Amino acid sequence: MARFWDKIPGIAYGADYNPEQWPVEVHREDLELMRQAGVNALSVGIFSWAWLEPAEGNYNFSWLDDIMDNLATAGINVALATATAAPPAWLVRKHPEILPVTIDGTTLGPGSRRHYSPSSSVYRAYAAKMTRVLAERYKDHPALALWHVDNELGCHVSEFYGPEDTVAFRSWLERRYGSIEALNEAWGTAFWSQRYGSFAEILPPGNAPTTLNPTQQLDFARFSSWAFIDFYNMLAAVIREVTPLIPTTTNFMASSATKALDYFDWAKNVDVIANDHYLVAADTERHIELAFSADLTRGVSAGKPWMLMEHSTSAVNWQPRNMPKMPGEMLRNSLTHVARGADAVMFFQWRQSKAGSEKFHSSMVPHGGTNTRVWREVVELGSALTSLASIQGSRVESRAAIVFDYEAWWASELDSHPSTDVQYLDMLRAFHRSLFLRGITVDFVHPDAALENYDLVFVCTLYTVTDSAAANIAAAAQRGATVLISYFSGIVNENDAVRLGGYPGAFRELLGINIEEFHPLPEAGTVALDNGNAGSIWSEHVHLAGAEAKVSFTAYPLQGVPAITRNTAGAGSAWYLATFPDTATLEGLVDALLEESGIAAPTTAAAGVELSRRLHADGRSFLFAINHSELDAAVSAQGTELLSGATFTGIVAAGAVAVIAES
Ligand code: GLA
Repeated sequence: MARFWDKIPGIAYGADYNPEQWPVEVHREDLELMRQAGVNALSVGIFSWAWLEPAEGNYNFSWLDDIMDNLATAGINVALATATAAPPAWLVRKHPEILPVTIDGTTLGPGSRRHYSPSSSVYRAYAAKMTRVLAERYKDHPALALWHVDNELGCHVSEFYGPEDTVAFRSWLERRYGSIEALNEAWGTAFWSQRYGSFAEILPPGNAPTTLNPTQQLDFARFSSWAFIDFYNMLAAVIREVTPLIPTTTNFMASSATKALDYFDWAKNVDVIANDHYLVAADTERHIELAFSADLTRGVSAGKPWMLMEHSTSAVNWQPRNMPKMPGEMLRNSLTHVARGADAVMFFQWRQSKAGSEKFHSSMVPHGGTNTRVWREVVELGSALTSLASIQGSRVESRAAIVFDYEAWWASELDSHPSTDVQYLDMLRAFHRSLFLRGITVDFVHPDAALENYDLVFVCTLYTVTDSAAANIAAAAQRGATVLISYFSGIVNENDAVRLGGYPGAFRELLGINIEEFHPLPEAGTVALDNGNAGSIWSEHVHLAGAEAKVSFTAYPLQGVPAITRNTAGAGSAWYLATFPDTATLEGLVDALLEESGIAAPTTAAAGVELSRRLHADGRSFLFAINHSELDAAVSAQGTELLSGATFTGIVAAGAVAVIAES
């Protein structure tokens, strides 16, 4: 199989391209503007089914033939979409049974997009046919570099409750458990007379008088992520049959906002990881959330370079107040993604729509044309990326890891838990932010991932954990790593059944502690600590069983009870954190963990400068210094600054980016 980047001499640059919204004269202008911007990659035809097949069996490819030919002549590589992300009106009219059904039985209608269920047998057949027709038509086209299957699978609607979804859920359960007895055991159906006599009796977890079986809910979340993977694989199988040498992908939405799709599971199925990311304009720390998303995408990609398939040049249209990006922010955003492993920088979309619900969403070519700040910044970004060609294929340096598990995210936030204030991402983001502000890059890794290369491993809110993942984490400490585990981790197994004998059952021995009872705090309450600071959200009755206390609670009834502990484990250590720490406590803890694991930032830099380093296997090293502050900032590094081509001066101007090929 060819790699997508085999056809691109550096960093891919481009956008979603929706030429069906424009007349041919505009297509001609597009080609000239793409040349000026340095565009070398486009995702084409994502929502074009109704234009490719205006009536059933009545195809019109002439416009797409022209587009593909012209892009090939211009040397632009195409990620060709399967066009299946919005079924055409004739298909909905003929087969309304393809439409999504929500938990309360509402059928979601057409007139928007993504109006189909991935388990609809009729829709699967039509989508496979369209994909085959497209693959056959363009299989030898010189512009074809990648297949873009559907679009943001699971966006808008990710759980489906129609008759065919129920049947698919039952089949998935049958494959997972083999027998109804095994399911009854795993789901703990002795509780509340929930026992099933056959798989045919099972329904998706719907509306009910009160709380539902938690394992049923967890399995439905697993199934719902899988249902779209299965839909993807069904289309990818068609593509691979026709064009075995062209890689296939789809655009993920990995960020702090997308909970429904298990992207570590997804990653096993795509040939190259592609991600979409949008800032929340009102978030004053949006650049840190962006770094979180980029680091998560690299984690899902197991460290391999990935594609930023979409982000925005400026405002989006779907937030309450769609503020534009500030001058220079688009370059900083794009290069943060590159600094954290992206080898493609693409946008939604090339030309701003003049009609439709996304007409106020920014794009590379704005409504105002080329005499605009956005266009000038688009051209500047294109030339910046050209100067970074030598970075392509390098890997991000990191010796710290945060374990990330979508199943723990789903399970930890189910109902009927000790506190609704325990939110899966809170601790992960707090540690990620602390490391980000120190210039330390951290990898997100699946609980089963190889941990040999990490000297510091954070395990946060890993409520559900398998025996093998718990052993993997313990082995990292035994081998010499410093492991930090935070509260509400290791409580249940993969079936959401409690590990008995004292919390946290999966990590009791590793941590040298035993927890007798949870003491979640009242809303907005705090708990005093003997370091003079405080925790919030959580406290608990921790007993030492080999570990030493580093910080203790001081408030009744937990006075003198450990809040932070450390246990020696083989050649390494295992720390425990029993509360959500305030900033001083968090930073003190991170100081101690970094000192023990010997991890530091790649270099020294003034406050407000984001740092990251990418390395080639041959030792060539690139330091990214992104100045988010309003002051010029000193960064200690030597070498050639690639964006300017000049020797690095040691200063990164306010709001600017330096990429230093280190000597
Ligand atoms: C998603 C979709 C695009 C577009 C953008 C707008 O990423 O994939 O088609 O709707 O959102 O932000």
